[in-house]
Amino acid sequence: MDVKEKYIEFFIKKNHKQIPSSSLIPENDPTSLFITAGMQPLVPFLMGEEHPKGNRLVNYQKCVRTNDLDEVGDKTHHTFFEMLGNWSLGDYFKEESIKYSFEFLTKELGISKDKLAVSVFKGNDTVSADEFSADVWRSLGFSDDKIAYLGEEDNWWGPVSNTGPCGPDTEIFYYRSDEKTPAHFDPEDDNWVEIWNNVFMEFNKNVDGTYTPLKQQNVDTGMGVERITSILEDVDDNYLSSIWLELINKIVEISGCSYDEFSKEIRIIADHIRAVVFIASDPAGIRPSNSDQGYILRRLIRRIIRYAKKLNIDIDSDFEKVLANIVINQYSKYYGEIKSNEKVVYEVLANEKNKFSKTLEKGLREFDKIISNLDNNIIDSEKAFKLYDTYGFPIELTVELANEKEINVDLEGFKKKFKEHQEKSRQGVSGKFKGGLSSDSLINAKYHTATHLLNAALKEVLGDHVCQRGSNINEQRLRFDFPNPEKVTKEQLNEVEKIVNEYINMGLDVTKKTMSKDDALKTDAEAAFVERYGDTVDIYSIGDISKEFCGGPHVKNTSELGEFKIKKEESIGSGLRRIKAVLK
Ligand code: ALA
Repeated sequence: MDVKEKYIEFFIKKNHKQIPSSSLIPENDPTSLFITAGMQPLVPFLMGEEHPKGNRLVNYQKCVRTNDLDEVGDKTHHTFFEMLGNWSLGDYFKEESIKYSFEFLTKELGISKDKLAVSVFKGNDTVSADEFSADVWRSLGFSDDKIAYLGEEDNWWGPVSNTGPCGPDTEIFYYRSDEKTPAHFDPEDDNWVEIWNNVFMEFNKNVDGTYTPLKQQNVDTGMGVERITSILEDVDDNYLSSIWLELINKIVEISGCSYDEFSKEIRIIADHIRAVVFIASDPAGIRPSNSDQGYILRRLIRRIIRYAKKLNIDIDSDFEKVLANIVINQYSKYYGEIKSNEKVVYEVLANEKNKFSKTLEKGLREFDKIISNLDNNIIDSEKAFKLYDTYGFPIELTVELANEKEINVDLEGFKKKFKEHQEKSRQGVSGKFKGGLSSDSLINAKYHTATHLLNAALKEVLGDHVCQRGSNINEQRLRFDFPNPEKVTKEQLNEVEKIVNEYINMGLDVTKKTMSKDDALKTDAEAAFVERYGDTVDIYSIGDISKEFCGGPHVKNTSELGEFKIKKEESIGSGLRRIKAVLK
């Protein structure tokens, strides 16, 4: 019996009803492209609606997370993964949930308690520390050394988008190493890997950022199949577990490349082919396109082709079908749609491959043209970028082809251009330049100056770790993103607001100094996104409270700003906070 089956059977014995995995595409939720957690389709029931199968549920859910696409290739990241979950919809709560998890891990899976440690929520302004969960863990034999109290960033889960059910959680960690398990649990030590998350969903996050208790106290848990399998099989690389064995072996066989030497490329091909099979076979009918889920599907397939080429796999062969077939056979027992849509998967893969092969062909002709017209032995960044942008040519391919002709590529220049391009599209998406830096209107100048004052005041109140991670201005407001481990309290926000208004009332002069970027970097001026600036930069100083690299425009004196007011403070994930503020 594999871990999925054991899990379902265990919770059925505990009076849970199995529910099927939902489609990968969320229904009625335009805020997320894919299902990223088992609870997502259950939101209405966590909010209090009655579930036809009762109030104890269990399943394995297909999930896709795309925010880490560039990380795939290491030992632990996957685009597609399966999540094991059990839920109590207003039935049992913390004690039973923790005891079930402990029993499943130690009795059913035979994991030694000595390899485990846990974290619980340390509390914040609105919710107190989760002593209840800590006590349950103690009652199961966990010493205080193995129980960490952590804050919102670690032990608060949800909502999935801006609003919805959420709550504190307790997480279970396993010490993945041949060395002796340390007596003390250090959450910073990477050998401690999180294996299971039990969320106590009793709050709803509202549109205005406040939290209200839900109608009922729910439990939502999630455990990744890939990780727990690698732990049970005692491998420190998820891709070396039985889940991946056949697929990896086949890629090694058809490419003739060894896993040791080409693990990154082989993992990418394996991960992406599995994700493509699941996305293309989903009843939602996703097909490659230039937007939303279809774009992810397109990117995944093109990356497969790109890495297959890198491993010298003959891309005109039906290698992609051979690989997809392995995934289909492996999973169709659990997901019927994969088998019934088998043909669709092969078609999607072959069509997209053929399309990309065409641009590849055109790109190859362009490449020949470029090298026959070279003045020196280098393909400059502009040409390399054109191959990338117009012909979908991965830079690695350009380099490989160039090397065969003993020609170099300006890689550094390419990377710079690539970054600029990324920045531009990101700004395009967020509308950054719409009414912002490019407009010289007075209100924009005011908001630029106010942004510098806000940055300075935040440092004063929260500490020197504050810096600009993102900024956006339009004629109605400013928006400022910065790192902070916790929510900024109401009192702190009031203090920040007060300080900014004091600076404004002090009537400080705003002065500009232009100098070379090298010289500017030697000063103590604060610089965000240094790489975006050209060789010459402007440093704006406001009295002696702020000194920053900036493209401007700014007002001449802070007295021109009017009254400063913070409208909103919120998390934008991974330790980043966002403030929106206005000038009145
Ligand atoms: N929803 C929780 C998670 O995804 C269990 O970690």
